[in-house]
Amino acid sequence: MTAQAHTASSPSPEGQRLPVVKGGLPMMGHAIPFARDPVGFLLRAHGRQGEAVAFSLPGRRVASFCGPQANAAVLSLDDSEADRRPVYEPLVTPLVGPGAIFDVPAEVKTWHDSLLLSLLRRDALARHAPDMFDQVERYIAPWPTSGTFELMTVMRDLAARITAHCLIGPRFNRTVGPALATLLDQLQAAFFMSFVVGSRSLLPHHRRADRARKTLTRAIKEIAPHDRPEDSERSHFEELMSAVGPDGRSLDEDTAAAVMLGWLFASASTPAHAAWTGVLLLQHPQWLPVLRAEQEAAFTDHPPASLSALHGLERLGHCLLEAERLHPAVWLLARTAVRDLCIRGYRVPRGHLVCVSPGASHRLPGVFRDPGTFDPDRYLPDRREHRATPCALIGFSGGRHPCLGMSFALQTTKVIWSVLLRAFDLELADPDVREARTDLKHPPRRPCTVRYRRRNR
Ligand code: HEM
Repeated sequence: MTAQAHTASSPSPEGQRLPVVKGGLPMMGHAIPFARDPVGFLLRAHGRQGEAVAFSLPGRRVASFCGPQANAAVLSLDDSEADRRPVYEPLVTPLVGPGAIFDVPAEVKTWHDSLLLSLLRRDALARHAPDMFDQVERYIAPWPTSGTFELMTVMRDLAARITAHCLIGPRFNRTVGPALATLLDQLQAAFFMSFVVGSRSLLPHHRRADRARKTLTRAIKEIAPHDRPEDSERSHFEELMSAVGPDGRSLDEDTAAAVMLGWLFASASTPAHAAWTGVLLLQHPQWLPVLRAEQEAAFTDHPPASLSALHGLERLGHCLLEAERLHPAVWLLARTAVRDLCIRGYRVPRGHLVCVSPGASHRLPGVFRDPGTFDPDRYLPDRREHRATPCALIGFSGGRHPCLGMSFALQTTKVIWSVLLRAFDLELADPDVREARTDLKHPPRRPCTVRYRRRNR
């Protein structure tokens, strides 16, 4: 069997039936064990029944695939075979506003993506690097010599400020930055509730999200147009408004604001990844001297802000990969089968949700040695377990639609931990940290208290 999906040329492609996970209930299907521990549920199902299984959630039938070859087969599917839009559009459009992300034809989405990419290219990342350091340094400057902080609160704040500063503008960050993490949390909570209950209903989560969207849209429209980054003649908003789309038209103000809000929303996985990086490091303090030595070697200048210095932090990079592997913030990637498909020899009827799970796949024995163990050495050149097979590590997806913000997110997390590790001695108040499964991104459960003491540098 190749890694490719075998797609149908006829309406009913050949293929064997997907083995069904035992224990489904009438109406509810497998909703209860899935909601309680989705990644554990999938790991157990695939462990018992192989790389492809079927299960059901209220109103949905799910074809779940697991393992590098199966990941590659699903993620290489074309949108005309398995489409993300029917899954995500009803969840996301009410949160950011119409005309952005999946609420546009494919060619317009490609154009919107290119506008974001202009802020994420290598030259842009190099410009962002000193600003990212500056944001973190300013944030911790008023902290006393020693104390405690709640890890996820700090990671949300820092990631939100960095993203707002770099992608929207410095004034927007100064004005909205302190409230931004809470507003983005409200959008995410509504996304999660809509996914669980199957549709958008007017729960308190959705009312809070509506208010958050209005607040953010208003702020973007008021502030962003005049918010020029230093040494730039035009604001990012002005750049957006002056671009011409594939239909020969430019964005109107409301749509440009929705596109920008979509960027902020898409970046909301960064805090969970940054927080798990911190938890894993502090649970394995033998790594801290290694990382500090690496920083001493890489950062010869102050502020240590160049892109090449950041790239030099290879061991920190391996720790980030372990956080992505063990605790992927996006633990499920879902598409809808647009027509009958045959994937890895299994028949997937039209309308099924087709899923791969980074969370389950990353913990398969046989792909990663001792998969439950934090072992950054697995990425060293003599092992490179994540490259031994394509699509082994898919925390940022892969195939046709990889994450556009991966480099930006990794740079953000590298900067945050570079600053914190140099500035403080750190330890977890309680090293037994669990996942918060009621939160979309499964971040560390709160409160995750970190004790800190300033170091003499
Ligand atoms: C640790 C942080 C992040 C993680 C783990 C992450 C993960 C992902 C994943 C798994 C997808 C694919 C979803 C799917 O196909 O179902 C995705 C898509 C995307 N991400 Fe990220 N992301 C992160 C940060 C960011 C940031 C900071 C940005 C923007 C600055 C961003 C922008 C996007 C965009 C625009 C897409 C959609 C790509 C497309 O439609 O083809 N992400 N991300």
